[in-house]
Amino acid sequence: MDIFRTKSVEQSIRDTEAPEHRLRKRLTALDLTVFGIGVIVGTGIFVLTGQVAKQTAGPAVALSFVVAGVVCGLAALCYAEFASTIPVAGSAYTFSFATLGEFPAWVIGWDLMLEMALAAAVVAVGWSGYFASLMNSIGVHLPDAIAGENPVVNLPAMVIVLLLTVVLVAGIKLSSRVNLVIVTIKVAVILLVIVAGLFFVKAANYSPFIPPARATPAVAGLKAPLIQVLFGVTPVAYGVIGVFSAAAVVFFAFIGFDVVATAAEETINPQRDLPRGILGSLAICTVLYVAVSLVVVGMQRYDQLSIKAPLADAFAAVGQHWAAALISIGAIAGLTTVVMILMLGQTRVLFAMCRDGLLPRPMAKVHPRFGTPARLTVIIGVVSALLSGFISLSELAELVNIGTLFAFVVVSAGVIVLRRTRPDLPRAFRTPFVPVLPILSVLACLYLMLNLPIETWLRFLVWMVVGAAVYFAYGYRHSRAARTDSSAG
Ligand code: ALA
Repeated sequence: MDIFRTKSVEQSIRDTEAPEHRLRKRLTALDLTVFGIGVIVGTGIFVLTGQVAKQTAGPAVALSFVVAGVVCGLAALCYAEFASTIPVAGSAYTFSFATLGEFPAWVIGWDLMLEMALAAAVVAVGWSGYFASLMNSIGVHLPDAIAGENPVVNLPAMVIVLLLTVVLVAGIKLSSRVNLVIVTIKVAVILLVIVAGLFFVKAANYSPFIPPARATPAVAGLKAPLIQVLFGVTPVAYGVIGVFSAAAVVFFAFIGFDVVATAAEETINPQRDLPRGILGSLAICTVLYVAVSLVVVGMQRYDQLSIKAPLADAFAAVGQHWAAALISIGAIAGLTTVVMILMLGQTRVLFAMCRDGLLPRPMAKVHPRFGTPARLTVIIGVVSALLSGFISLSELAELVNIGTLFAFVVVSAGVIVLRRTRPDLPRAFRTPFVPVLPILSVLACLYLMLNLPIETWLRFLVWMVVGAAVYFAYGYRHSRAARTDSSAG
């Protein structure tokens, strides 16, 4: 029983050439960077900033963004090497198959569903919240049963997910054009917040910059970060510890630069352009985030920030209602592309898993006219729509973080493994300071994971156990790698 059989890099690349599983190559470095920004800038900056400043970090939330940005930067350098060496859809899943073996690859593929399908549903619910409040401001009140705090069915969320599914089926270049238009709006709104907000910043709001640590109900019981419980510390908010706990939450705002790697097979010159897209989009977003968070906590005292729409409400609080309305529109636009690209990434990862036989292969058929994995896209669209429509997801956002951080740990470790096992491979981009940098990346991601609440860890473990069961019930027996093994033997 060989669950650690690997799939060679050459085989992975050959598999992309089979006609019925070939994706269309249309994307450039610019497309990828815009894709990155499209998926990165979303709920994290538009929503979490307020919640985290208020409850965990105070004005030092800007430092939390720096910490999370640095952790992502380390991981991004590792992703860039892999993506330039193995430009195959599937991202961390494919990288793990080449280095650690089939079962670890499956674990990562399964884990990535948390990052993408679950996150798409979570963000769609956030989208629906902004949409309902915008409708309200123009006098249209959506019934509570379809768009209230606890709706029977969250209709706007379901509709947006299904509409985006249609765009994704219609083709990667169309998706990328829609994305370009929306990203322009979203970045313009973020820049507006930074520039217009500067006029309303009061120095007094920055002190204390790091409020003194204290125990609060928000971090008690199962909601306490694992690290505090492991080391027997009484859970506290604020203080330096608060800055780090907050970093583990605002990490959500950076999720997505790695999704760029899932578009590898659709990139014209992946070896050169994937590293550019991954690192470029991350760098731009980090600068924007630090600037926005500094401005917002300067405009309004951290303990008065709104939890649902902190950016818009900070402007409303200083009497600038026009800006508040514009920001809501920007947020709606922004969250739209996040949902779209997360679903895109999810279909590409599942696509790679089906092609390898770990999930039913016919699901991964590419549509002859559109050149996209249409069946899978529809399946993901329907599942995400149902999740966002019927399940209360606000509790699950941190599950997305832990899932993503786990993938970063494995990819970073994988860089060291592949340097040892395949030193001969051409690497268009090389991670600097191997093995020191990947090791730092692993440690930094583990550290952020430990800063997540205990309940998130429990949910994560349950999900992974379910995944292992599915593998042994289906994937292990249907794997194509297994067939190659037995025909060779
Ligand atoms: N980074 C994405 C967001 O903030 C997931 O919504």
